[in-house]
Amino acid sequence: MKFRSTHILLLALITIVIIGIIANFIITSQRAIINRPPDIEILVTGKMRGRFEFCGCPGERAQSLPMRAQAIKGLTLTPQLRERLLLIESGNFTSDRESVEVAMRSFKMLGYDLVSTAQSEQFYIDEVLSQARKLNMKLLARDIKGNEGLSDICKPVWVLSRSQYKVAFVTSGIQPKSNDERTVMAKWNEVMNDVKSASGNTNAVILMNYWDWGLIERVLKETDAGKFITAIITHTSAQQLNRPEFQTNFETHFLLLPERLLPMPLLRLWIHRGKVRHLNMTTYSPSVEIPDEEIKMLVSAYYRKRQERLKAQWLTIVRRAKEYTTPKECAKCHESEYRHWMTTKHATAVLTLKKRHRIEPDCLKCHSEEFIQTKRLTMTDKGSGVECVSCHVELKDPVKVKEHGHMPSERARPPRIDPIKVCTPCHDKEHSPQFDVKLSDYMSKVRH
Ligand code: HEC
Ligand code: HEC
Ligand code: HEC
Ligand code: HEC
Repeated sequence: MKFRSTHILLLALITIVIIGIIANFIITSQRAIINRPPDIEILVTGKMRGRFEFCGCPGERAQSLPMRAQAIKGLTLTPQLRERLLLIESGNFTSDRESVEVAMRSFKMLGYDLVSTAQSEQFYIDEVLSQARKLNMKLLARDIKGNEGLSDICKPVWVLSRSQYKVAFVTSGIQPKSNDERTVMAKWNEVMNDVKSASGNTNAVILMNYWDWGLIERVLKETDAGKFITAIITHTSAQQLNRPEFQTNFETHFLLLPERLLPMPLLRLWIHRGKVRHLNMTTYSPSVEIPDEEIKMLVSAYYRKRQERLKAQWLTIVRRAKEYTTPKECAKCHESEYRHWMTTKHATAVLTLKKRHRIEPDCLKCHSEEFIQTKRLTMTDKGSGVECVSCHVELKDPVKVKEHGHMPSERARPPRIDPIKVCTPCHDKEHSPQFDVKLSDYMSKVRH
């Protein structure tokens, strides 16, 4: 009896020691992995939307392309880092046709490894392709018409290497137009085929996602896609992603792209025996005050040329539009802001009244800019309501309106929108009780 129990005790002890040794080995090797510098670092930029300006003003607009350029140059200065850094633009960099060239030339000057295209590039895809051809840059895109003969520069999958490692970038392409199961799954299977074949001979697979959050969550739940994808870089914002338990629900990791140019998200991978053993996401926020000179010159030249042409055009618009300028007039020069505005409830504020049979002066005095200015209403469909000049009030001023179209650097003071002055006459306590409490949500919905 005694002999037996000591035996068991001894056996248990040995087992514990062995488990301890193994655990210790795993932990130390894991720690050893994390303690060394990452093998690959991926710096992602995006959502620039043609805002290149350097105006010296505080806030978001100060985060211009020349500032970003300086930040990137500072980062890549160390040769060790350049050796393991992949510099990726994730798209939505254009606002109109002219802006394509400026953006892409600066990407080239900064040594970007890959330029992925998003929704806004689709509008000027021929220009994007022609610049990529001219500058010899790698483009990531799916379903591009007129891509014939360009397959060497424009593909849905690119494999990039750094030292002995290989990383595949696959794009989801633009979200399918129809939401029905068959269309979505057909499209997703196409993306997954690319992911799976790329995962065979690379160390990591990164998916650039341009689908709505709900849709991507659905396909991830229904398929085993997460197993093959190391990380998903996503343009669509999703509150849920901030919940810590969320990341653990799927086998893949998510990198959300912020609305601002700085800080820039940085994805770091530690690779061991061919596989990503550890991954971390951080942000790179350099303290840059001086813009990059080379890029600043490129941007200034662009604005000067643009301004000359647009100013003349603007004066004809002002002369012609006797009463008030409609959003369609603004759209001639500010296409991307117009497209964004059309997605907000402000663009359907008159339609809301029409649907409820309440087109009456008492309601129109807040729901229609046309009515506010002219006491008439000529359009009741989408595209009429709380309009550009409802917020950009300086354009209602007959003197200031003539000066419109200054170069960013020439503006005396950037006309920032003060919510107390601009929004609360309509968003008062009675009609918008939540406005004060959720001010930043309200503002972020209308900012383009
Ligand atoms: C004919 C071209 C043209 C039209 C039409 C036009 N703008 Fe502009 N706008 C410009 C130019 C040029 C700038 C200077 C910055 C730039 O080049 O993007 C500018 C700048 C702006 C800015 C940035 C701040 C400022 O005032 O400098 C706002 C806001 C703006 N426009 C709003 C509007 C609104 C609202 C309308 C319609 C009522 C409108 N614009 C119509 C050419 C135009
Ligand atoms: C001329 C009046 C007017 C002004 C000025 C105005 N709004 Fe509005 N806003 C409205 C009306 C009317 C609606 C409701 C439209 C509808 O649902 O048909 C609305 C709706 C909204 C919504 C949509 C709320 C939702 O349920 O999604 C947001 C966000 C918003 N406004 C933010 C702002 C901000 C921020 C400003 C100032 C920068 C502003 N608005 C200025 C009249 C105005
Ligand atoms: C003082 C300005 C103001 C007046 C006057 C006004 N509204 Fe609004 N209305 C708003 C604002 C601001 C919102 C957006 C509220 C929000 O989302 O915070 C809104 C939203 C709405 C909505 C959408 C939200 C909902 O409740 O479903 C409807 C419908 C609406 N208004 C109808 C009317 C009608 C009908 C009248 C006339 C009897 C009217 N409004 C008069 C400012 C006004
Ligand atoms: C509900 C308010 C609102 C409406 C309506 C609105 N804007 Fe704006 N717009 C903003 C805000 C907020 C900003 C951010 C800059 C700021 O705070 O001054 C902005 C910025 C801009 C800029 C400058 C972008 C930049 O960063 O240089 C342009 C150009 C512009 N808007 C054009 C338009 C046009 C064109 C329309 C109509 C199609 C429109 N806006 C409608 C609120 C509005």
